[in-house]
Order: sequence, then structure tokens, then C-alpha cells
Amino acid sequence: MRMTKKKLMFTFGTRPEAVKMCPLILECQKRTSRFDTVVCLTGQHAEMLTRVLDYFQIEPDYNLEVMKDEQTLTDVTVAVLEKLGPVLEKEKPDILLVHGDTTTSFAGALAAFYRQIPVGHVEAGLRTNDFTSPYPEEFNRQCVDMLAGYHFAPTQWAAGNLAGENRDPARIFVTGNTVIDAIRTTIRQEYRHPELDWAADSTLILVTAHRRENLGQPMAQMFSAIRRIADDNPHTKVIYPIHKNPKVRRAADQYLRDHERIRLIEPLDVFDFHNFMSRCHIILTDSGGLQEEAAAVRKPVLLMRNTTERPEGVEAGVIDMVGTEEEAIYRAASRLLKDGELYRKMTGGPNPFGDGFASLRIADILEKALLSGG
Ligand code: UD1
Ligand code: UDP
Repeated sequence: MRMTKKKLMFTFGTRPEAVKMCPLILECQKRTSRFDTVVCLTGQHAEMLTRVLDYFQIEPDYNLEVMKDEQTLTDVTVAVLEKLGPVLEKEKPDILLVHGDTTTSFAGALAAFYRQIPVGHVEAGLRTNDFTSPYPEEFNRQCVDMLAGYHFAPTQWAAGNLAGENRDPARIFVTGNTVIDAIRTTIRQEYRHPELDWAADSTLILVTAHRRENLGQPMAQMFSAIRRIADDNPHTKVIYPIHKNPKVRRAADQYLRDHERIRLIEPLDVFDFHNFMSRCHIILTDSGGLQEEAAAVRKPVLLMRNTTERPEGVEAGVIDMVGTEEEAIYRAASRLLKDGELYRKMTGGPNPFGDGFASLRIADILEKALLSGG
């Protein structure tokens, strides 16, 4: 019996979505006799997004280029709804795949729902159950799970959350996280970089921070703590590739400039960033995705947040959620820098986020569901 091909459309708009969707797109694009693929970027991010696609050598079919300087949530939601609709109507995909918890994911899923196009949610089921943290991501991910017909949960815990919310158990799949697929392709033994050469004689602390709910006072506290850590530990050096958000840049500039052992640099390409992660000593971050990547490269994370949707990392010992207050961050980092036993405990656990074959599983599930009605 001859199978008809199915059209998969992928919509995403920010750097982390791209890092986690590209491995899946590549896997689906290999299956040319079964799938046609359409890649539609919303362009919620600009260069931070397109550089990921360049690394994975994926040519997008559309870029809606919605990004504005210092955009509001309303700006992004309205622009995605308005601009994605016509593309969905033209392409008429059999399924729209969205990722995670961004405004692009939420508005993308809603645009598909309005046209009765099935939605597949990659990285489904993560929860803090607190709409203020992370904000607005917890709301976005719950909405996407409400709209989606296929839930690709990275872990058993995430799948359990979906089951607890009465999602159809036959449409919940535990696949692992596709970010582990990405990191399988990036780390190189022989990797060198001038910034790493600069830090070679030191204990390297890698920093990222960008969360919307941390802008303002929490970020001031986080950055003050980082400066104190550097001041009081002369053997450390800090590298912070700063997010393009001007609000984050102004804060970093105010609190972290002009320190001989702190380098504020431009965002790194994902290939470089993964290699920096694998060579640093400690990671201080408020990121979502870094929690999974750190578990893969076995580096301890001091998570500068008050909630996490990835408690598996805390359980595995690799994440210590230290909050956003200066004193708590400073103390946790000081202890981890001195206590070798604690360091070994944090880096010796399992990686709960996947084995690097999540994309393969998701593509298999899509084949079965769309082509053989499974
Ligand atoms: C977004 C996501 C967040 C995700 C983060 C990843 C939402 C609500 N937030 O937050 O979940 O963790 O991306 O980084 O979806 N900018 C540039 N160039 C770029 C990218 C951003 O100049 O390539 C600047 C622009 O001024 C833009 C601002 O950064 O307005 C903020 O971008 P936005 O996507 O609204 O928020 P993020 O904090 O990046
Ligand atoms: N990343 C990158 N360059 C950098 C910093 C981060 O490529 O300079 C990657 C990182 O490897 C991860 C993703 O960006 O895959 C995380 O993005 P971010 O922290 O901005 O978003 P979140 O994961 O919090 O949604």
C-alpha cells in the first residue's frame, strides 16, 4: 500500500527553542519518503535565533521577523498571531510542532488551534504551577499543553504532570529532551577559544541571566553577588555572554563592568557555548535549558531562581536552587568553590534529561501517528 506523505510544520522564535528543535527537524528531514517539512521562524529573536540555524545548517522557509527592540509580551503575541495565520493557511500542514514555553510557542499553538490544525508540543509537561515564576513561561506552557494533541514529554515526571491534568494518556510520550541530542553533536575534545585561554589559569565561573521576572532588583542582587564572589576568590575568573536584551545589558554594565577577572562578552554560538560549559567549573544561571545541558556535561548549577520546572536536576544533585538574593548566592558559591566533596556530589549523579535520541523517538511517533493512524 502506498503511503501519502505528511506535512510537518515547525514554528519557533527564540534561541533555546531553536537549539532544541533543530535536531528534530534534521531527523524529520532525513525521512523524505514520509515527511515534507516546513520551517517557519517567528523571529521573536533575531541574530540569537538565526545563528543557531546556521550552526545546524537549516534553511528556514519563512521568517516572520516579529522582533522589536524591547518588545512587550503583547507585541510578540499579536505579531505572531497576525503573521503566522496566513502561512498556516497557505501551507495547510498536517501538524504544527511548537516547543516549550515562549510567547512564540503559545501564540503559534493558538494560531493553529484557530485553524483546527493539530499541534504537537515538544518539551511538554514541565511545571512550576506558579504563573509568576517563570513569567510568563508557566502560563505559556500550560496553555500549549491545553491546545496540543500530541505531548512529547522529556521525562517521566513531565508525563506524570500531563496525566494528572487529564490529558489523553495515549497522546503522552516520554522521549527525553532534544537538547541532549544537540549537545551530543557540539562538544569537542580539542576545542580552543581565546576567552578560554584567558581563563585557563583560573577556576572558571560561567554566567547567564535573562529571566523577565528577574529584571530589576533580583538581577541587581544576582550581579552584586557575582562581583563579590570574584572579589573574594582571586583564583576565579567569570565569563558572562550577555543576552541581547538591552535591559539585561544595562544591568550587567552597571554591576559587572571594569573588573579584571570578569569578562562580559557577546552571546556565544551554541557550538562555542556548549564547549564553554564543558570546560567551566561552576555555572550560575537563571536559564531553563542550561539546567539540562549542565546535567549532560556534569557541571554544577547554582540556579538563581525561586522555582524550577526541572526538579529532576535538583533530585540528581546537579542543580542547587539558590534564589535571587545576594547573600544566598554568595554563600552557596563560596561553599561550592571550597568544598570538594560537595562538588563531587553535584557532578557525580545521573543525567535525568535524556540519552541523546529524543528526536529519533519523536519522529518515529509522528510517523506512526500520522502515517499509520497509530
Ligand atoms: C524569550 C522568552 C524566554 C526565553 C528567552 C530565551 C518569552 C516571553 N520569553 O525571552 O522564555 O527563556 O527568550 O533567551 O517568550 N533581542 C535582540 N536580539 C535577539 C534577541 C533579543 O536584540 O536576537 C532583544 C530585543 O530588544 C528584544 C529583547 O531582547 O525585544 C527581549 O526579547 P524577548 O524574546 O521578548 O524576551 P527574552 O527575555 O529574550
Ligand atoms: N546559549 C548559547 N549562547 C550563549 C548562551 C546560551 O547558544 O551565549 C544556548 C544554551 O546552550 C541553551 C540556550 O541557549 O541551549 C539557553 O537559552 P536561554 O538561557 O536564553 O533560554 P532558556 O533556556 O532559559 O529558555
